[in-house]
Amino acid sequence: MTEGKPTIDISKNGPLLVKGLKKLADAEGNPILMEKDIIALCRCGASENKPFCDGKHSKISFTGEVSPPSGAPAADQENHDAVEGEISYFEDGPLYIQGGVKLNNPDGSAPEDPAEYYLCRCGGSKNKPYCDGTHKELGFKG
Ligand code: FES
Repeated sequence: MTEGKPTIDISKNGPLLVKGLKKLADAEGNPILMEKDIIALCRCGASENKPFCDGKHSKISFTGEVSPPSGAPAADQENHDAVEGEISYFEDGPLYIQGGVKLNNPDGSAPEDPAEYYLCRCGGSKNKPYCDGTHKELGFKG
């Protein structure tokens, strides 16, 4: 397992690439086995192997683009080293990130609260990579 703070890198029109994560859990909090140090989590909503990416984003022409920059400036993401990083998800809803998992967003922004934030995994948010509640309108299942 990779040492140090876990990170999430956002691939442009593809999955979330997670490195060094201590725990991945399902909607009930049950641990999910991570077979690799780097895991790819679906954010297009189309994977048949959720929460993992299975490459479907390329078949549905998923775009991760957003118009306005999202989140806050990336300044205060370094203050949560004491807590171990964990990712879980809500049934039919977003990924729930807690414990200081650093988000490397290409637009330079950071979550408003870097200790706890929600990332879209339905593919429909208008504020990607963050959840904006659109999963309810879409009837997302997963
Ligand atoms: S999971 Fe996509 S908007 Fe909430």
